[in-house]
Amino acid sequence: MTAALSEVAHLVRRFFGFLAATPPSPSEQRFVHDHLAPAEARVFWEQRPEDQRHAIDVARRVAAAADDDDELIRAALLHDVGKAAAPIGALRRSVATVLDVVGLPLPRAMATYRDHGRLGAERLERVGADGIVVAFASHHPGPPPAGYDQDRWAILLSADRT
Ligand SMILES: [Fe+2]
Ligand SMILES: [Fe+2]
Repeated sequence: MTAALSEVAHLVRRFFGFLAATPPSPSEQRFVHDHLAPAEARVFWEQRPEDQRHAIDVARRVAAAADDDDELIRAALLHDVGKAAAPIGALRRSVATVLDVVGLPLPRAMATYRDHGRLGAERLERVGADGIVVAFASHHPGPPPAGYDQDRWAILLSADRT
């Protein structure tokens, strides 16, 4: 598959995944609280349920791939918290992604969605998160900043992309 087709397939998967998302079950809620500090958990629950679902799915894949590495699980659970600042649904998210790819200006809510990485990292820093938790929120889906382990970063990227 070409890179462009792969991107379109990913966009379509993400769109329908958002529409089909179910809220966290009681055992998944415990999983979140077992891994996050109370202030981090409050930020997690500020996300809309569809984003909570995505974060838990990513964290489960990370747990399986990284032998329950606690820091990576926290990074997975919290990587998209910046999306809570952009109250837009599946359709406008997809439009924002396409407009951004083709370089067109984005309305404010869509620009906030595009900037969710930086916004989430700032929010996480304010509640005391650090290390790869903040770095992955800020820099995904790009490469790791200097000083971060490529293999651990790749586990997070792969789990987010699946
Ligand atoms: Fe993201
Ligand atoms: Fe994500």
